[in-house]
Amino acid sequence: MASTTPQGLCIHPRQMDFELPDPLPRHWHGGDAFKSHLFDAMSLQFPDGERFFIDSVRYFREHIGDPQLRKQIRSFIGQEGHHSREHQVYSKRLRDLGYDIDRLEGHVQARIRFTQKRLSPQRQLAATAALEHITAIMAEGLLRDARHLEGAHPTMVRLWRWHALEETEHKAVAFDVYNQVCGNRSLLRRAMLMGTFFFVLDTSRGLVHMLKRDGLLWNWRVWRGGLSWLWGKRGIYRPLLGPYRDFFRDDFHPWQRDSLELLQRLRGEFDGAHQAEEANGPVPS
Ligand SMILES: [Fe+2]
Ligand SMILES: [Fe+2]
Repeated sequence: MASTTPQGLCIHPRQMDFELPDPLPRHWHGGDAFKSHLFDAMSLQFPDGERFFIDSVRYFREHIGDPQLRKQIRSFIGQEGHHSREHQVYSKRLRDLGYDIDRLEGHVQARIRFTQKRLSPQRQLAATAALEHITAIMAEGLLRDARHLEGAHPTMVRLWRWHALEETEHKAVAFDVYNQVCGNRSLLRRAMLMGTFFFVLDTSRGLVHMLKRDGLLWNWRVWRGGLSWLWGKRGIYRPLLGPYRDFFRDDFHPWQRDSLELLQRLRGEFDGAHQAEEANGPVPS
């Protein structure tokens, strides 16, 4: 299948040093325990998860002849490497608050060890392409809808927006590599079902653990507020269901959802005067 990644797409790794608040306010997301810990629970999957993404793509680098895609792989590795390191600091802040991050990260590490030992490189890459789609639709939701981070600590907003911007930029790299070296759609769909299951499991486990440590696990108001923020009538996750399902279509490609205009609008936040030549012209200053 032909890739529909825009020609000349600029994937630009940005070395950031956020100096996350130390100590991290326990409920940094506007004083809301559910919202803060939902993001925290996702974050603690990133240090190991993104290293796994890098390994699974890097394994096939030498099989890729297209110089454009090879360049994108290099940038993908650069971006995910920075994400992994920043989220490691984030995990440390959570550990300092007394949460059992070692146990939570241990579940992720054990699964990655199993995957790398028992599954073929193609299946590992399929898992990466699937999880990158989940990450990308959440990232785009976060960038488009301010309610995701409304009222949160400004440094945390910046960290999550930086990560979301770069996830959007490189959303098709693993997918394009997969298409070139394997392309089997049913493997990809199965990987998505498994990936979704474990992502939801790990996120829920982290959220429950942190709410429990805060003494809020059985607080009905916390759950009602949080679940309605996610899945209520105007819930922030509701609009993501359609894009999630798109992945199961036979002709799916991540760039069928055009994010170039969004990227151009947001790059100024992090790039200053950086002017990236895109397929449709230079980024407006
Ligand atoms: Fe990332
Ligand atoms: Fe990514």
